[in-house]
Amino acid sequence: MDFPLVAPSILSADFSDISGALAMIANSGSDLIHLDVMDGQFVPPITFGAKMVAAIAAKTNLPLDVHLMTQTPERLVDDFVAAGASYLTFHAEACVHSHRLIERIRETGTKPGISIVPSTPVSAIAELLPFLDLVLVMTVNPGYGGQNLLPFCLDKVGELKAIRRRRRLNFLISVDGGIGPSTIDLIAAQGPDILVVGSAFFSADSPRDLVMGLKNAATGSVIY
Ligand code: DX5
Ligand code: ZN
Repeated sequence: MDFPLVAPSILSADFSDISGALAMIANSGSDLIHLDVMDGQFVPPITFGAKMVAAIAAKTNLPLDVHLMTQTPERLVDDFVAAGASYLTFHAEACVHSHRLIERIRETGTKPGISIVPSTPVSAIAELLPFLDLVLVMTVNPGYGGQNLLPFCLDKVGELKAIRRRRRLNFLISVDGGIGPSTIDLIAAQGPDILVVGSAFFSADSPRDLVMGLKNAATGSVIY
């Protein structure tokens, strides 16, 4: 696999034409599909649930990277596992017994991930890192597409990479929010493994060129 992987977020797609969005993603050279589940509680908007994820799973061969922006994720994980999530990520801020939930997700064969909002430090999830397949670093305050990247969040990518190296761990590091041609150099300097791209992908003249451009800009800057 060539890193960084690119994961378009269908949050910025035309919700009345999900098949069209899936075709765009399939033809773009992307690696994953990022699915933003919002519950109107953890974040103000409501997007979609497991039924939508299952419908998308039936129409794509790409792995589904499900990002739960919900309270009480422990009530939801079974439905999203059954829907076909490859990675299932919940927010550290929304769950007290995160380790138990990570283990529960892992037992199903789905890859567990945890996400942190801009105000949450890496230290808040330090104990969990050996048990994770993915850490999703939010680079905007979650809830909306099309926001400006918050550069201070990127330091967490470097911090996570240093811990991963030192403790010989294997989780992937994903960044989410405000990623596009104008911010890729800043991001590439830290070298995350996965780039989640919403509005920049769906507003691109050529999504394929965009994906290739992001991958090329980020390759070579990755410090392992
Ligand atoms: C924001 C979501 C993101 C969103 C990113 O809360 O988690 O996945 O789709 O959108 P852009 O790339 O437009 O910032
Ligand atoms: Zn997301």
